[in-house]
Amino acid sequence: MNYTFSPIPLTTATHVYLVRKESVKSVLTEELRECMKFTGAYKQIAYLPESNAVYIGVTKESSIKSTDVWDEVDFYELGSSVIHSLSKTNIDTFTLHGFCDGEGSDDSKQDALLRFALGMYQAAWKLDTYLAPDKKQSKTLTLSLSEEDTSLKTLKVERELAALAKGITLTREVIDLPPNTFNPATVVDRIRTEFEGKSQVEVSIIHKDALEEMGMGAFLAVGRASINPPVLVHVVMKPEGDVKNRIALVGKGLTYDSGGLDIKVGGHMKTMKMDMGGSATMFGVMKTLSLLDLDHTEVHWISAFAENMVGGNAYKSDDILTSYSGQTIEVINTDAEGRLTLADALTYATLQDPDYIIDAATLTGACVRALTEHFTALMGNDRELIELLQETFLEQQEKTIYVPMAEVLREQVQGDVADLLNLGKEAGMGGHITAGLFLSHFVDQNLFRNTNLDIQSPKAYKWAHLDIAGSAYNKKKNAIGVDGATGQTVRSLVRFVQKIDQQDI
Ligand code: BES
Ligand code: ZN
Ligand code: ZN
Repeated sequence: MNYTFSPIPLTTATHVYLVRKESVKSVLTEELRECMKFTGAYKQIAYLPESNAVYIGVTKESSIKSTDVWDEVDFYELGSSVIHSLSKTNIDTFTLHGFCDGEGSDDSKQDALLRFALGMYQAAWKLDTYLAPDKKQSKTLTLSLSEEDTSLKTLKVERELAALAKGITLTREVIDLPPNTFNPATVVDRIRTEFEGKSQVEVSIIHKDALEEMGMGAFLAVGRASINPPVLVHVVMKPEGDVKNRIALVGKGLTYDSGGLDIKVGGHMKTMKMDMGGSATMFGVMKTLSLLDLDHTEVHWISAFAENMVGGNAYKSDDILTSYSGQTIEVINTDAEGRLTLADALTYATLQDPDYIIDAATLTGACVRALTEHFTALMGNDRELIELLQETFLEQQEKTIYVPMAEVLREQVQGDVADLLNLGKEAGMGGHITAGLFLSHFVDQNLFRNTNLDIQSPKAYKWAHLDIAGSAYNKKKNAIGVDGATGQTVRSLVRFVQKIDQQDI
């Protein structure tokens, strides 16, 4: 564990103060301001060893007119800057004071400080289990809140912080773990370990033979050439009270994506251990929720885990697969494998009859090209759900852009000899959108053709899709100074589930 939270302010701690430009004068003497050139500008840091204090500027100023809603003061980033600026020291114990001028409502302060603390924890964590002891970089932080902020020092903050920190770190760890360690053969043990002793969490695993019997032809084709057989994981978390809502979370779970026979070239294969980023995100969300408990919401996490590899038995372009839904799919490219595994996982999710289905997937290179590594693409088939997610992502400051699933592009994934194509006809164009359109065929039971599913009254489910191909994993150091897995999306999805649970919508 790389964090602790102390309910009482620590005497040995370094004090962290957030300073707005307007209040610099009241906080620091002129002498200090002069010698440190501290103006309160965004992310500017002044460390005063004598008073054991760190001041961090929060004022963003720009003369450029902008409508960018994401260009706010980002508390997660601010928290991370404190850790980076002190990386050469061995300081690891902090008391957080919030804004010096005490402005802001308790609720917003609480939320901002929570994100600030999470940013600190995440900046202090790096996967270093494979490194020699003298090369390890992770720090174990101990945080507490100041006396002045006793209003914030509720059990709730402490629990939420610990739960989110654990969930986000778990997401990052399993993404960063190498594929020879984290793969369809090992994932089950890790999932069982993480939920051990949690009586409200039920873990079911469906193995290859059973999946074959069920008819998950799309998912199984993708995993066929790996020595590690595919597994479908279904984790259910029950609420404390009676069930009023049901949410299904579906994650893409390619523990490795070599591209298959359409093998990745030119360095594109490197980093494809992160192709289970969607699953890792949902794993982190479930972990957090399992530490917080829900009142009336049952949450299902479904992931189809496989490795997309090559071999004599590998699936190939021109193959026509019969998905679990019964819809047939012509393979155009074996590297567009994520949607094939998701097709069957989404179909399975509909059979749980949830109120909402949300999937997260490192689905397309097109998404990264269109939106960069900063942004998640949000798509879906239900206005209200999209709006609630947009609002939640914005509150949590997790960069997400709504992308309409343009109906004019649907014919791109419609086949000639099979129902669907696993790649848009104009492959290079709007690939993130055509991938979303493809997926939409597996959340509408009216389109299903597998009579064995015995669906009495077919339903079109409310569904949102998050393409996290860019945002789950950053090749270069990002705004919080992290390269590799980011853990982005976990806190918004946790908050979303909590909102549904409290019907705070
Ligand atoms: N896992 C990749 C998408 C991806 C790309 C995730 C880059 C993260 C970073 C997906 O399975 C894939 O390979 N997509 C290809 C499909 C295409 C070659 C048919 C893509 O979008 O480039
Ligand atoms: Zn691929
Ligand atoms: Zn992939």
